[in-house]
Amino acid sequence: MEKEIIVAKSKSSTGKLQAPEMLRCEYAENPLGIDEARPRFSWTVGDTRRAAVQSAYQVIVSASADAAGKDKGDVWDSGRVESNRSYGVEYSGPTLKSRQRCFWKVRTWDADGKSSAWSDAATWEMGLMNRSDWTASWVGMKSDAVPVPAVYLRKSFSVTKPVDSARVYATALGAYYFYLNGQKVNDDFFAPGWTDYRKRVMYRTYDVTGFLSKGENAVGAILGSGWYMGPLSWSKKTNTFGDAPAKLLLQLEVRYKDGSTEHVVSDDTWKCSEGPIRSSDIYAGEVCDARLEMVGWDKTGFKDTAWKKADVFPDKGIALNAQVESPIRFVEELKPVAITEPSPGTFIFDLGQNMVGLARLKVRGPAGTEVRLRHAEILNPDGTIYTANLRKAEATDRYILSGKGAEEFSAHFTYHGFRYVEVTGCPGKPAKDAITGLVAHTALRPVSSFECSSDMVNKLFHNIYWGFRGNIYSVPTDCPQRDERLGWMGDAQVFGRTSTYLMDTAAFYAKWSRDISDAQSPDGAYTDVCPYPGSDILPPNGAPAWMDAGIVIPWTVYLCYGDTRILERQYDSMCRYLDFVTANNPDGIWANKRGNDYGDWVPAGVETDKTMLATLCYFYSAHLLSEISGVLNNAAGKDKYAGIAAKVRDAFNARYLKDGHYENATQTINAMVIEMSVVPSDTLKSVTDDLVKDIESRGWHLSTGFIGTKFLLLALSDTGHDDVARRLFLNRDYPSWGYMVEQGATTVWERWNSDKMGPDMNSRNHFAFGSVGEWMFRYLAGIDIAPDASGFDRLLVSPRPGEPGRGLSSLKASYDSIHGRIASEWKNDASVFLLNVVVPANVSAVVRIPASSIEDIAEAGKPLAKTEGVSGIKLQKGTVEFTVGSGSYKFKTVKR
Ligand code: BGC
Repeated sequence: MEKEIIVAKSKSSTGKLQAPEMLRCEYAENPLGIDEARPRFSWTVGDTRRAAVQSAYQVIVSASADAAGKDKGDVWDSGRVESNRSYGVEYSGPTLKSRQRCFWKVRTWDADGKSSAWSDAATWEMGLMNRSDWTASWVGMKSDAVPVPAVYLRKSFSVTKPVDSARVYATALGAYYFYLNGQKVNDDFFAPGWTDYRKRVMYRTYDVTGFLSKGENAVGAILGSGWYMGPLSWSKKTNTFGDAPAKLLLQLEVRYKDGSTEHVVSDDTWKCSEGPIRSSDIYAGEVCDARLEMVGWDKTGFKDTAWKKADVFPDKGIALNAQVESPIRFVEELKPVAITEPSPGTFIFDLGQNMVGLARLKVRGPAGTEVRLRHAEILNPDGTIYTANLRKAEATDRYILSGKGAEEFSAHFTYHGFRYVEVTGCPGKPAKDAITGLVAHTALRPVSSFECSSDMVNKLFHNIYWGFRGNIYSVPTDCPQRDERLGWMGDAQVFGRTSTYLMDTAAFYAKWSRDISDAQSPDGAYTDVCPYPGSDILPPNGAPAWMDAGIVIPWTVYLCYGDTRILERQYDSMCRYLDFVTANNPDGIWANKRGNDYGDWVPAGVETDKTMLATLCYFYSAHLLSEISGVLNNAAGKDKYAGIAAKVRDAFNARYLKDGHYENATQTINAMVIEMSVVPSDTLKSVTDDLVKDIESRGWHLSTGFIGTKFLLLALSDTGHDDVARRLFLNRDYPSWGYMVEQGATTVWERWNSDKMGPDMNSRNHFAFGSVGEWMFRYLAGIDIAPDASGFDRLLVSPRPGEPGRGLSSLKASYDSIHGRIASEWKNDASVFLLNVVVPANVSAVVRIPASSIEDIAEAGKPLAKTEGVSGIKLQKGTVEFTVGSGSYKFKTVKR
């Protein structure tokens, strides 16, 4: 889908046209092992002049670095394409083959037809495109042991000639690490990513050229249960996605300098053994007995005579996909901020932050000493750890010392959500650095910054960010600590838009959307959680708002990244879902097939009518599907779903709208009807008044749950009630975001009053209420997508500073969009409003500034009307609106 070319000319004398930057293929930097037949390219336009646009581009793909260096597109040359498109540009050359390595470059033309220099070359490499490319077998070790010990696998092989390059393609049913000649190769944790392993499993490709040496080599692997075999959910169900034991599939391909190749694959020539990791599961934790360490097991020369022959398992035809989304990685290490000893020999390490990952132990002592690490989010009043809210998750790692001097341990196949680590069994007093926190999560690229004049708000942003960090474990999860940690769809859909402002989520959600359709039942229903653990845990028919993630998430990816492929891929699935709701609810009110029907989950005291909520979700999904059909140029689909949306809206209004008010309306319902434009325009005022009055009647407090909270501040701001929105946002008493912050939260709680509630459903790290992050970026910072745009092609910069003294006095935020960095910074006092805006090249922005006259605004000292790059200035109801092209602007508005 090519977009219209922007005709504005770059006329600035400052700045210049440079080569494109930020080259990405399938959202990744130089990816290795992808399996898209037509990979997509993106770049940022390197033109620092004002109002810079790209009028054309040329992409070349070369077979070698040498050809790329000579600007030769010997694989594919797009030629000059008249288009402003700088992302989602598809490779359209000859069919790409397994293992093919490609080099690519791009150059752009400006509005005057002047070309940039070629970019630096970027690369990508294809993975194994066909099942027949795999000659490896699934290997593991049969065992009846309970709990299940981790399995060690090894094989020696020789490298006979000088190596040009070597790759490992690897995955597991379970979780794996692999080693070459004693060195750990994969930097990922809990690999492979989480899918429904009965249907599909993802492999990764590793460049191992530097790990091999001439002569004898050894490859080793450790296999744990992972999500495949480990317990999932409160039911402690194990083996959810297939049969024990865990299995490895690994294919090492060596290409020699003489052009010949050699493959070393997992098969019955491998050997296997148990080892020091006696048990390890997601919830219980890990037991590691270092006395059983097998020194050198992953190196050549190791005597593996006591090891058994590996068991080989038949291939069940599970789809193998390249993992394009980032793996889980260790990204940060936290040092303790305090160590206490609430009872003799029990030491509590406070890491100062509710984090997710592992504790690293450093210890020294006699062989056989068992050190126990228990993890917790909070403390009891007596300073001991509080673990009741972990429910059945024991979250305990046990390390049995080898006695060989300084020892270090962190678990392999479990993870914990915690701020505090209780250490017992330590010989003597543990050193200050005996415990550190290894933070791990899907390593998406952080994309934003946010800082303002309120410490409370800054802390809230920090908490929202850490809430997301702790809940991206290959899929978006509800929580990271108790016996749950599932891909709850309702949570993810309300937080989806906020998450895009925090990290680069496009590939992550593309993968998860595929999981959502993998879990779809034959009648079209989506599930509550994805990957789906089975009908003995949750019904195959999920709940309203939870199932709707199947439409909202792909839409959000389209909106924020301009990605149409996710819509194409999910389209049939989305239609089947919507048709399922329609078939079961022919009169437009969603009365039937609501699964567990969670409603507006964990609200602040006010229950919302579940049929009303469900029907609004139904309307919204139908409406979005109509929009999606339009984006895909499917006119019939557009009409069909617009028709369903209209019918649902009319049925809703006929049933619930009486004399200008919605019956039984809660803040959630009124916010949703406003945001979704369900309310007829002549009734908008009275419904908005109802919403504001309800807030006022609660002492200016919210009463919403997971679903309503996502819409509340947006609805207020969109109806001219920024002041009310800001008031709710800045509250510090219950129920509010500020309340959590004031109580010392370092992440976002599951409930508005988690501090007062019992242990049962009370996580201190649940991102759902962090959905206010969307409003913070769009309305407070003013970094938003213009109403009819996608992919931040056109911005709406309309920050809402509010009355000086009653809101915030300053704010500084940035967001790295697919076009590059967008920034907004403002200061507001009684006499002036200062706004600095950065708009990336090839993007324009509609800017709105509160002012009583156009003459009150100047840019860099010049009247607005004379500012280069500014056009279409108009004054409307106390707001001056105008359009700017790319560049950096400093607006100063004098107040009268
Ligand atoms: C989860 C939620 C989820 C909910 C369903 C809970 O146990 O933690 O976040 O959305 O169940 O209502």
